[in-house]
Amino acid sequence: MKQILALNAFDPAQAAGLDAALAARVARRARLFGAASVLFYERPLTLVRGEGAWVYEADGTPYLDVYNNVPSVGHCHPKVVAAVSRQLARLNIHSRYLSDEVHDFAERLLATFPPRLSNVTLTCTGSESNDLALRLAMAATGGRGFVVTETAYHGNTALVTEISPASFKSATLPPHVRLVPAPDPGEAPAGRLGSWFAARVAEAIADLERNGIRFAAFLADSIFSSDGVFADPPGFLAETVEVVHRAGGLYVADEVQPGYGRTWAGLWGFSRHGTEPDIVTMGKPMGNGYPMAGVVTRPEILSAFCSSVGYFNTFGGSAVAAAAGGAVLDVIQAEGLIAHADRVGRHLREQLTALAGRRPAIVEVRGAGLFIGIELAAGSDARSGTGLATRAINGLRERHVLIGAAGRYGNVLKVRPPLCFSAADADHLVEALDATLEAAA
Ligand SMILES: Cc1ncc(COP(=O)(O)O)c(C=O)c1O
Repeated sequence: MKQILALNAFDPAQAAGLDAALAARVARRARLFGAASVLFYERPLTLVRGEGAWVYEADGTPYLDVYNNVPSVGHCHPKVVAAVSRQLARLNIHSRYLSDEVHDFAERLLATFPPRLSNVTLTCTGSESNDLALRLAMAATGGRGFVVTETAYHGNTALVTEISPASFKSATLPPHVRLVPAPDPGEAPAGRLGSWFAARVAEAIADLERNGIRFAAFLADSIFSSDGVFADPPGFLAETVEVVHRAGGLYVADEVQPGYGRTWAGLWGFSRHGTEPDIVTMGKPMGNGYPMAGVVTRPEILSAFCSSVGYFNTFGGSAVAAAAGGAVLDVIQAEGLIAHADRVGRHLREQLTALAGRRPAIVEVRGAGLFIGIELAAGSDARSGTGLATRAINGLRERHVLIGAAGRYGNVLKVRPPLCFSAADADHLVEALDATLEAAA
């Protein structure tokens, strides 16, 4: 398996080919941040400004951002900037005081969930949210066994890294974690993805129990982004959720990537499956770049945890975070971004499917709304697509389009732009991809 961040990473061994100014900047970065520094692209980028779906270098060179879902309503959206600036200038303090601003935001957020999911804990990152979700699940079930997909990424704390095989370089899977294959319709018997995937999860749970490990939870990114983007058919997760509940475990929907209107089913990806999670975690797009995240669950699940241990998060749920979060919800509504993402996403999938007819390197185009996977292969084996994806990512960067990749072999280009991405932006991406695949063939 290819480590996902390594796919389009800059390789310091190639630094000799960079011009002097760029090489000096890269060397400075390496000196300061050492082994943990990850840069994108064979020629790393220095960006200074962003607006809508575009980002810019200091000399004004524009790049179309097809990669970043954090600036979900558009880079530096003026309404979010104004709301955050206003609140920063008024009061910015931790969450142990009463605040109408924070309560208003929490009420608005919770109103987007099924009624039983009526408590929210605000945090700062998706990793913190998933860390808390694991602890909630352990407290509520008394178990400590987890099931996730084989290329899952759920974050970077010690606990969460254990259930994030996409991060493993030499690490091995801990005894309390079981992996299931991605829900790839190509691997399941025709028309039976739901029961096939549910059976894999049931086997994983049975294996935990056989080894004396009580099952706590199944965690899934609702669109299986790092596994390579698997959205369809809507509803295929429902049987798995039944299996999880019958086994006494909880279903945690990780909405850090698919959440906030990207997949056209209200705000949340789990809605496409007609399921009700026990715990929902969210982050990235929530504050349009202001670091905020959260966990939504039923009151009894939260109480089971809080009766045994305290939880306090200094920056989580500040009034500034609430201002950012409220402004993002306002913009999604005012600009009709959920319907827009659906419309532009359909247009883009159509154009990409037409391109696949001309470019055999595109094996499949799949996804929902503005979350699209473009699977590449150079031959019959999916593994042959890994090098092709790396060449496509770097070729697109040279054509001023920023994109990433995912999947077991890193051979799926991941399209996940700000929601304001336009039909003209979509056409620009398709033209650039066409030229890139021509050159990379
Ligand atoms: C599905 C998913 N969950 C959780 C996380 C962790 O979020 P954060 O980087 O904010 O800690 C990520 C980050 O990429 C993610 O993609």
